Amino acid sequence: MANAHDTSADAPATDWVFGYGSLIYKVDFPYRRREVASISGWKRRFWQGSHDHRGTPEAPGRVVTLLPAPGNVCRGMAYEVDHAVFEHLDHREKNGYQRHRVEIELLDAAGTVNGTLYVAGTDNPAFLGPADPEAIVEHILSAHGPSGSNRDYLLQLDQALREIGEEDAHVAELAERVSAQQHYSTHGLTTRKAGKAEKSRSADQS
Ligand code: SIN
Repeated sequence: MANAHDTSADAPATDWVFGYGSLIYKVDFPYRRREVASISGWKRRFWQGSHDHRGTPEAPGRVVTLLPAPGNVCRGMAYEVDHAVFEHLDHREKNGYQRHRVEIELLDAAGTVNGTLYVAGTDNPAFLGPADPEAIVEHILSAHGPSGSNRDYLLQLDQALREIGEEDAHVAELAERVSAQQHYSTHGLTTRKAGKAEKSRSADQS
């Protein structure tokens, strides 16, 4: 029978998890409550390799992790979940990410809670580190994995961040470059197609 010293009986039935990447927009786990939230002292970067979701071991994709950034506030989504959910999350985030305890500020509830996030540290084998935005975009446009294209990961994250009012210049720049390339290639294709059609019309007429 539980008594006053039995900490397991006193332990809360739930915990909070803070998502800053795909955990914001791909919610494939049950939660009791969710809140737009922020953490302090971290920044989001496309510096982690993905062997299992947006790439393969032979051709890894590029996804986000967090890097220490004193003074920076990083906005994401916090979920209150049952402890059992961590089994699923540990598996989903297994490629280099580790659980880390943080203080999470819940924006609407105007209070703080302690919770867990998944961070891929610079010493994990899949860590890629920084690169020029142009090189990151080229990399992202070339990568695909079991969870879909790396391009969709970036664009969905950019959209999700906008929806929660997060201004992340790093993500926004990459998304803008990808969209511009897409526009250019669509436009280029149209022009090429139109050019071809024009050519075959004039060939018909000659
Ligand atoms: C997260 O979303 O919090 C972790 C990184 C990811 O799965 O994209």
